[in-house]
Amino acid sequence: MKRALVFLLFVFSFFAFPLLAQNQTVLAATPPMGWNTWNKFACNVSADLIKQAADAMVSSGMKDAGYQYIVIDDCWQVSRDANGNIVADPQRFPDGIKAVADYVHSKGLKFGIYSDAGRTTCQGRPGGRGYEYQDARQYAAWGVDYLKYDWCDHGTQNAEASYSLMHDALLKSGRPIVFSICEWGSNKPWLWAEKAGGNLWRTTDDIQDRWEGRKKWGDGGCCSNGVMDILDLENGLESYAGPGHWNDPDMLEVGNGGMTTTEYTSHFSLWAILAAPLMAGNDLQHMTPEIKEILTNKEVIAVDQDAMGRQGRRVAKQGDLEVWARPLHDGSRAVVLLNRGTSEAPITVNWADIDYPAHLTAAIRDLWQHRDLGQFTGKYTASVAPHGVVMVTVKP
Ligand code: GLA
Repeated sequence: MKRALVFLLFVFSFFAFPLLAQNQTVLAATPPMGWNTWNKFACNVSADLIKQAADAMVSSGMKDAGYQYIVIDDCWQVSRDANGNIVADPQRFPDGIKAVADYVHSKGLKFGIYSDAGRTTCQGRPGGRGYEYQDARQYAAWGVDYLKYDWCDHGTQNAEASYSLMHDALLKSGRPIVFSICEWGSNKPWLWAEKAGGNLWRTTDDIQDRWEGRKKWGDGGCCSNGVMDILDLENGLESYAGPGHWNDPDMLEVGNGGMTTTEYTSHFSLWAILAAPLMAGNDLQHMTPEIKEILTNKEVIAVDQDAMGRQGRRVAKQGDLEVWARPLHDGSRAVVLLNRGTSEAPITVNWADIDYPAHLTAAIRDLWQHRDLGQFTGKYTASVAPHGVVMVTVKP
């Protein structure tokens, strides 16, 4: 009897543990997609806002297009109680965080939250320092599926050690929680963040809703970036990304009003070439049809979510005219012809730049026009609007 029990236990552990381990490793097998409060709403977060965003995520077709996570960024938390438990703002979240998480889950979506590896968050709310295991247990009990962990007020803390500690706490919570490291590229996270358990890590300081220009913040601190600045900072980091561990060039500004529709189309296309997490940051309840069309373009999203998970790079540049490309799992390439200049111009992708022999004939499909453009040999040229892109797949 006893021997049979030991045998059964052996058989169970043989099959169950690899499955459990696998469950951890497939977290964020493709770049996470979702929505985050910060870019549009900053500290103006509430249970109602989250519920309305979850509703809009479903009704707008974004859920169908692949968006999954609804993430509350900074300012949901106000204090700790006598036992050290983190306390949500009672006015803004009157029924607590679990009720909000339950609502998000009831829509078939996943729920994310924000904290900070230092003593306080970037908005001066209580951070996680010294409470890592207690917070992780709390998040798991609330049903959190995604944690964005910031880097304000870190004092002399070591980044890799701080993030590894929180990751260990998340693992011990027993709930699979995507771990989004947000230390703004300060300590070259691409070199250590995967080892520290990060599923994604920010590579730069914050994005702002503009085409280009790295600027100091109002308080003199450095810096915020336009889309083009972040793009330049990401080039060269492509070898560090892959399934389960992604470079994060920050959340999307698509739809926030500071750029033209053409510029937002470029922003979205380039994030797809970069295999970037696609976290929308706009008001989902009040989207124009143009913005919705950008965010739900399934052909562009398919590039971002390609199963091979290879981040793209700049393969050619002549002044303001650039070609960006990434290989896809079926042997084809996704290509963005990017015009950073101020007048319309032709841009060519040569097969040699995307590792195809020049004599090869390939089918071109335009991912914004949703049209097959025919067969081309050696190269493909298109006229590209200022600050615009033409995005195609090249399939031999
Ligand atoms: C930092 C992060 C942002 C956002 C804010 C919140 O600046 O980089 O993405 O989370 O903090 O305060």
